[in-house]
Amino acid sequence: MTVLNALWLIFPAYCANAAPVLIKGRRPLDRGRRLGRYRLLGDGKTVEGTLGGVLVGVLVGIGQMQLQPSLAGWGLTAMTVQLAVLLSTGAILGDIAGAFIKRRLGIARGRPVFPLDQLDFLVVALVFASAAVRIDLVTAAVLVIATPVLHKTTNVIAFVVKMKKAPW
Ligand code: CTP
Ligand code: MG
Repeated sequence: MTVLNALWLIFPAYCANAAPVLIKGRRPLDRGRRLGRYRLLGDGKTVEGTLGGVLVGVLVGIGQMQLQPSLAGWGLTAMTVQLAVLLSTGAILGDIAGAFIKRRLGIARGRPVFPLDQLDFLVVALVFASAAVRIDLVTAAVLVIATPVLHKTTNVIAFVVKMKKAPW
């Protein structure tokens, strides 16, 4: 039940994080600017991806709200618009923060960094969400372990169906 509830709770954040891959934005958030030698964020963080990611995450959360009455008794955390907004903005901002860190370390856009790529969005989404709901340590631990596994799985699928250029 804890695992199921953890995945239910985080689902808007997962969708917010995945949506930009499909949106294929063109306008870099940093408008090409550099901080020192490297790009502030790089071409992998776009205006379209950022706004679209938040929007998709919130819409997914609203979808979960519609499902919730028929899942009564499953012991799932109540999804709300507020929680979906916190999860989605947290996920997108966490991912942007991850890119910021990678650029400061001189790591090129798209180069994989484990476990930063898998956990940046998750940790900030959970911190934001904890403003609305109590997130216990077991739930957080389950997600820290499960997310890299799911991240790898979905990226390999996206690569196989040619939605992504690299399997990470
Ligand atoms: N994306 C976007 N806007 C965002 C986040 C992601 O447009 N705010 C899109 C970009 O096309 C990006 C893709 O989603 O290439 C995959 O996201 P991610 O793996 O986070 O970016 P990377 O290309 O790997 O770049 P970085 O090294 O900066 O993480
Ligand atoms: Mg990446």
